[in-house]
Amino acid sequence: MSIERILVADDEESIRWVLSKSLIKKGFQVDLAEDGNQALSRFSSNHYDLAVLDIKMPGLQGLELLKQVQEEYPETLVIIMTAESTMDNAVAAMKNGAYDYLTKPFDLDALDAIILKAQKAAEVTEQIGHLKEELQEQYSFGRSIIGNSQPMQEVYKTLGRVAPSDVTVLVTGESGTGKELIARAIHYNSPRLGKPFIAINCAAIPRDLLESELFGHERGAFTGATERKAGKFEQANGGTLLLDEIGDMPLELQAKLLRVLQEKEITRTGGSQTLKIDVRIVAATNQNIAKLVEEKMFREDLYYRLNVVPINLPSLRKRKDDIPALVDFFLQRTQQDLGISIIECSKEALALFKRHSWPGNIRELENVIKRAALLSPNHVLMPTDFPGLLSGKGTASQDESLETLVSRKLENSLAQMDLQELDNLYEMVLHQVERPLINIILNQTRGNQVRTAEILGINRNTLRKKIKVLEIEVKRGD
Ligand SMILES: Nc1ncnc2c1ncn2[C@@H]1O[C@H](COP(=O)(O)OP(=O)(O)OP(=O)(O)O)[C@@H](O)[C@H]1O
Ligand SMILES: [Mg+2]
Repeated sequence: MSIERILVADDEESIRWVLSKSLIKKGFQVDLAEDGNQALSRFSSNHYDLAVLDIKMPGLQGLELLKQVQEEYPETLVIIMTAESTMDNAVAAMKNGAYDYLTKPFDLDALDAIILKAQKAAEVTEQIGHLKEELQEQYSFGRSIIGNSQPMQEVYKTLGRVAPSDVTVLVTGESGTGKELIARAIHYNSPRLGKPFIAINCAAIPRDLLESELFGHERGAFTGATERKAGKFEQANGGTLLLDEIGDMPLELQAKLLRVLQEKEITRTGGSQTLKIDVRIVAATNQNIAKLVEEKMFREDLYYRLNVVPINLPSLRKRKDDIPALVDFFLQRTQQDLGISIIECSKEALALFKRHSWPGNIRELENVIKRAALLSPNHVLMPTDFPGLLSGKGTASQDESLETLVSRKLENSLAQMDLQELDNLYEMVLHQVERPLINIILNQTRGNQVRTAEILGINRNTLRKKIKVLEIEVKRGD
């Protein structure tokens, strides 16, 4: 983040005038405030990289203002201006986290010098941040894509062609085929690699929260919004945003997303200021979006905007030649991660793998290997080390009870949320269950609310209220 937008707050008009004139001349965007309260309200609708605040103003004083800005907008650097006679205040300002202070009267060169210093510091911090992330990324992720089969070669070709540009990519494929891995590979092979890669799972986040997760919100935008929060688009600025499970995005949000993609700017929920964003979009889904479009569950215009270049990942059963290499890779990784001694896979076990249909694809293979490497007393893994595959049943996930399934989904979902920020988690989760339940029964009864209430075993009025609160659309059949 470099310094672009600056707030100047001073009750003396001449100071405001001189500062803004000089800063604007240097190419900064400048906003002005006459007192502390006005300064705070500017903050609520704009993002400032730097604020130059007079310490003595009517209403909210500079030091108090500094404290509030520090708390709510910690990314904003603050320079305090003080008159010579209040040197103690300057010390207090620095102790309270001001970036620097200026003693009045000052000449403009002094301010320039501080801004230049801040700019350099911001750039270095940013670079270090990205380097760190990148290192973490390399270590934690490995990022190797394994597989040389024909269908994977096609994937690599497309990847190599699209990665260097900003073109939008839609990655499709069954669950566990490596969609997120490919999305990361696109980012790390693009000129944006030094900038953030941010992923958001549209299916795991409750729809009531998804909008503010994507676009951010201002403090007080809704109950529970106690802090201003940057959305994923803002976080990904300059980099790449993965919109995962895009097929699960509610229709209303699809409309807003389309607008954002067209206009390349966002408005935080509850805010008025628009922010320019520069984000490369990769979307991923395991659903057939073309079919969703036909069923009017997905906007056609958004589909075309996202599907500029499609990459379809082959299921594992279509590239069984890759199994041995993948097995080796996961065995090695398991050994590294767990610090266990070398384990191999027998020919018989490999043959078993080639017969299995892998409904959970690479992820299933990875889990199966990890589990066996952990549990098996053998040095060489035998078919008996894979009882799940021997029984000929599908994966565990297909035999799961509803409760297990829900609890697993819920766990994933909660892991993505900032629980401290929520004050109505219980209700939100219940809505997620109520909405599909009511929808399904309404569909089955062709929109007959009396029948639906009966089947659900709830009062008709209760159902009517729920339909309203949950914003369920009732389609009447014949
Ligand atoms: N070609 C590959 N080489 C090595 N590892 C892979 C490959 N493809 C997938 N994986 C691994 O398999 C796991 C699942 O991959 P990923 O999460 O990218 O799949 P996905 O398609 O996004 O799955 P889902 O639809 O369930 O979200 C990850 O641990 C990933 O590292
Ligand atoms: Mg995924």
